[in-house]
Formats: sequence, C-alpha cells, structure tokens
Amino acid sequence: MNRWILPVVILLAAACSSKQSASTDPVVRGERAFNGLGCVKCHVIGDSGHNWGPDLTMLGFRKSAVWIDQWLKNPHEWNPKTVMPNFNLDDAARADLVAYLSAQKGQAWKEKPWKTAAAAALPAAERGKIVFNSVGCVTCHAKDGYGGYPNNNVAGGLIPSLSKVTEGYSKHELLEKIKAGAVPIPVSSSQPKPLLEMPKWGGQLDDSEINAVVEYLWSLAPKKKGGKPAADDF
Ligand code: HEC
Ligand code: HEC
Repeated sequence: MNRWILPVVILLAAACSSKQSASTDPVVRGERAFNGLGCVKCHVIGDSGHNWGPDLTMLGFRKSAVWIDQWLKNPHEWNPKTVMPNFNLDDAARADLVAYLSAQKGQAWKEKPWKTAAAAALPAAERGKIVFNSVGCVTCHAKDGYGGYPNNNVAGGLIPSLSKVTEGYSKHELLEKIKAGAVPIPVSSSQPKPLLEMPKWGGQLDDSEINAVVEYLWSLAPKKKGGKPAADDF
C-alpha cells in the first residue's frame, strides 16, 4: 500500500524544483524571455529598457494578440522596411512573449511620461507629442503622423497619415474621432479583416490628454504659402 508514496514524493519534489526555473505562467515566462532575448535594448516597458524602438507599455491595448504573433513570427513580412530584427522564435517562446506583451495595457507606468513635472511645464503641443509617442499612435501613424505603415485589406494598403487632419476636422471633431476610434472598411470581403484598427482612446486618455494630442497634430499642419494664412501664423 505504501509503495506509491515514494514515487509520488519524488514526482512532487521534481515538479516543485522545475517550477523555480520555468514558471507555469506564460506572462512570467514571456517577461523573462523579453529581458533575456535583449528586446529591452530597443524597447521600453514602464520605466525600464531603451527607447530606440517603440514604447511597448500600452502595446496590449493598441494591437491584438493575433497581430503581435504575426509580427514576431516575421516582422519583415508585415513591413518589408522595418529595422526590427527577426528573432526566429520557436512557437513556444513566441506564445510566451505574446502573452506577456498582450498584458501590457499601461499598468507598468509608475508615472506616465507626459505627467512628469517637466512634461507638465511644456506647451500643450509638446506634451501631446509625448502622449502620441508613449501610447503608440506613432506605431501606426508613424513619426509626426507622417503615415506609410501597412495595414492589410484596406484601400492603398496603408494606415492614414495625420499630417493634414486640420483640413478635414475641427479641433473638437478631432478630439471626438480620437476618443471613438474607427474600424477600417475592408477592400475585399473574401480576405481577412484588417488586423489594425484605430483604438477607442476615450477609455484610456482623458479629454485634456487628447486635447494635447490635438494641439500636437495641429502644430504639424503644413504652413500654407500665400492665400489664407494658417491660424498659428498669428
Ligand atoms: C535592434 C532594435 C530592436 C530589437 C532588439 C527588438 N526590436 Fe522590436 N521593434 C524595433 C523597431 C525599430 C520597431 C518599430 C517597427 C519599425 O518601424 O521598424 C519594433 C517594433 C516592435 C513591435 C511592434 C510595436 C507596435 O506597437 O507596433 C513589437 C511587438 C516588438 N517590436 C517586439 C519586440 C520583441 C518581443 C523583441 C525581442 C524578442 C524586440 N522587439 C526586439 C526594434 C527592435
Ligand atoms: C493600431 C493602430 C493605430 C493606433 C495605435 C492609432 N491609430 Fe489612428 N487610425 C488607425 C487606423 C487603421 C485608422 C483608419 C480608420 C478608418 O479606416 O476609418 C486611423 C485613423 C485615425 C484618424 C482619422 C484620420 C483621417 O484621415 O480621418 C485620426 C485623427 C487618428 N487615427 C489619430 C490617432 C491618434 C491621435 C492615436 C493615438 C492616441 C492613434 N490614432 C492611434 C490606426 C491606429
């Protein structure tokens, strides 16, 4: 009757010791992989890492797990011009990273980068630029909203540029647009839906934060030569 006890004890001991080296929680394993693979050399999450590539603190809010998985499988297949290296991750390592990255919804910030005393002292447009880059508008609309980043199954194959939004929107309309988000219309009903959507920022950013982004986008508008001067020429 007691002959099962020893093997069971050995199995339990083995399970406990292996738990210390490989966690059963994919989010924990993903965090270790993120640090171990050197992702932190180019990316920031919360207060740690380096800002060479995009800030990933809100990645899990702006991008779906399906997109993150596809990106990590082969960044160049999604964007041939990207400088992000292909890590040739195996399925298990990729699944752990996707779990960790999808869980990043801004909670890693102890203090949001646009809420520091230094940022609070800046003009709204400059504070808005910090919001734009930190929450990751820049990862879809590119630096200064210049555009050129791909999306699947949309007209032109690209996410819209924001450099001329002053022509189509009032400041108030722009605020409402950013709060509400948008689902792109697919070009073909037989192809997969566009993987990147304009997120609903209303639940994440308050009106004063979005207004700062609006001021930033306004500051990017091309200055009109001749004719009617742009408002900020005064
Ligand atoms: C040499 C620098 C570098 C390293 C190392 C690196 N990345 Fe990147 N990564 C980038 C750059 C730059 C981009 C932005 C894409 C672009 O514009 O080319 C990016 C984009 C991303 C994105 C998409 C972000 C978004 O919101 O669109 C994810 C996710 C990502 N990297 C995850 C990782 C992970 C996970 C690792 C480690 C396995 C890693 N990166 C290592 C430079 C790097
Ligand atoms: C995950 C990718 C993604 C992120 C992140 C993102 N957007 Fe967008 N955005 C889109 C897409 C896609 C569209 C086009 C939606 C459509 O087709 O209606 C869009 C549309 C817009 C538009 C309307 C443009 C026009 O020409 O009418 C504005 C303004 C905008 N985004 C601002 C922002 C701001 C500000 C942020 C950050 C707070 C942001 N976006 C973050 C994907 C994104």
